[in-house]
Amino acid sequence: MQLTYFILVFIAMGGLKVKSDPDPLQDYCVAQTQGSQTFFLNGAPCINPADASPSHFTTSALSKPGNTDANPLGFNVTLTTIRNLPGMNTLGLTMARVDIAGNGLVPPHTHPRASEVTILVKGSLLVGFVDTSNRLFTQQLREGEAFVFPKGLMHFLYNLDSKASALAISGLTSQNPGAQLASAATFTTKPNIPDEILKKAFQINGQDVTRIRRNLGG
Ligand SMILES: *[C@@H]1O[C@H](CO)[C@@H](O)[C@H](O)[C@H]1NC(C)=O
Repeated sequence: MQLTYFILVFIAMGGLKVKSDPDPLQDYCVAQTQGSQTFFLNGAPCINPADASPSHFTTSALSKPGNTDANPLGFNVTLTTIRNLPGMNTLGLTMARVDIAGNGLVPPHTHPRASEVTILVKGSLLVGFVDTSNRLFTQQLREGEAFVFPKGLMHFLYNLDSKASALAISGLTSQNPGAQLASAATFTTKPNIPDEILKKAFQINGQDVTRIRRNLGG
């Protein structure tokens, strides 16, 4: 009885295989992003393959630096999406351009649906992730070096140089990786997580909660 249950759970979990997005069933499925949505599905529908053109598979979205002054941490992440690169629909990948100002930080965050590999193109970065036993893996990257952040694990990127900006390019294993910032997901949610919860979770007082919320713009 118990064995049957275990086997059923095992099968339900896909035989414990690690999976990225489902494989496409056709060569490509250029995303239909125009017009109002009349039915909803997991992903975006395709345009008629006969209407596909090279421009659907091209984007200049990553050609310009993002504005690192737009937030107090000094970072900006520009992503390919099915809107700026409709040809990537169903292919299970995303690319990101990560600009980080001097001493700027991409704060601790996770991607619930993707692993990420990052190559440092310019500058000097301290990167790291934390595994589920709270072990920290960090590495100082030099130009041309790459680092991988396993799916779902908390990670960060910090520019060690106080003046020069850094540029990194990432590939992610989902067309919709999602990003959850540790700080925002606790202190600047809408509506607020009750103060009692944050006080207990972080072992701080009510004033600390108010101050952190205010500092984070929540
Ligand atoms: C990144 O820069 C764009 C403009 O280039 C801006 O609209 C956006 O808010 C910035 N993102 C962050 C996280 O600061």
